[in-house]
Amino acid sequence: MNDPLSGCIRRRTLLTFLDMIAPEEAETGAPARSPDAVSDIEIRVPEPADGVGMWRLAVESQVLDANSRYAYVLWCRDFAATSVVAVRGDRAVGYVTGYMRPEAPTTVVVWQVCVDASAQGEGLAGRMLDAVYDGAPGVDRMETTITPDNDSSIRLFTSFAKRHDVPIERSDLFGRELLGDGHEPEDLYRIGPTTKGETTS
Ligand SMILES: CC(C)(COP(=O)(O)OP(=O)(O)OC[C@H]1O[C@@H](n2cnc3c(N)ncnc32)[C@H](O)[C@@H]1OP(=O)(O)O)[C@@H](O)C(=O)NCCC(=O)NCCS
Repeated sequence: MNDPLSGCIRRRTLLTFLDMIAPEEAETGAPARSPDAVSDIEIRVPEPADGVGMWRLAVESQVLDANSRYAYVLWCRDFAATSVVAVRGDRAVGYVTGYMRPEAPTTVVVWQVCVDASAQGEGLAGRMLDAVYDGAPGVDRMETTITPDNDSSIRLFTSFAKRHDVPIERSDLFGRELLGDGHEPEDLYRIGPTTKGETTS
């Protein structure tokens, strides 16, 4: 392994999974989640120092385009009002980064959603999306981009649209040739217009 960062990612990922596997899960392979696996998690507006934990989560996900640590720290300074971090104690276990689209001032664009493996499948990503939407001023639409192979993300945003009883529309946005490096295409998903406070469930 010549790339020190790759090695670092593998060690961290191994530790994360060893930490989360309960004895019964190790035996059966089935997830063994506590009903209150996310009850001790706080969702709040991020500060620059939170960018470090968000960057770590992005790297560990092995799915997201992990940007530089500096990018996440800077994001937490300038786009905190449209972003959230989920923390358990002093450790970040999830985040959403978003921004108001300059050319569509009532549209919040969700850039990345990430939940640590130890907290997945318990509704945390959905709660974070709601928090970003509820906290963003004057918002009535949400947009995001998703690669066609990311079923969990498609489900997450479809579920958000259903909660708000509004349509979700997919269209082509950025193709492989534009993104390069073997990147999957990024499809655009547009949700809304929504009316704040009128969720159906
Ligand atoms: C995608 C991700 C954020 C979901 O986080 P989560 O907290 O587990 O999601 P939730 O528990 O809030 O579930 C939201 C919806 O997605 C569904 N879902 C979650 N994980 C899923 C999976 N692996 N496969 C299919 N559906 C899944 C849930 O069933 C739920 O749908 P429902 O409301 O219709 O029941 C998380 O898996 C993750 O961080 N993945 C790696 C990074 C990534 O792909 N981010 C998205 C692109 S930016």
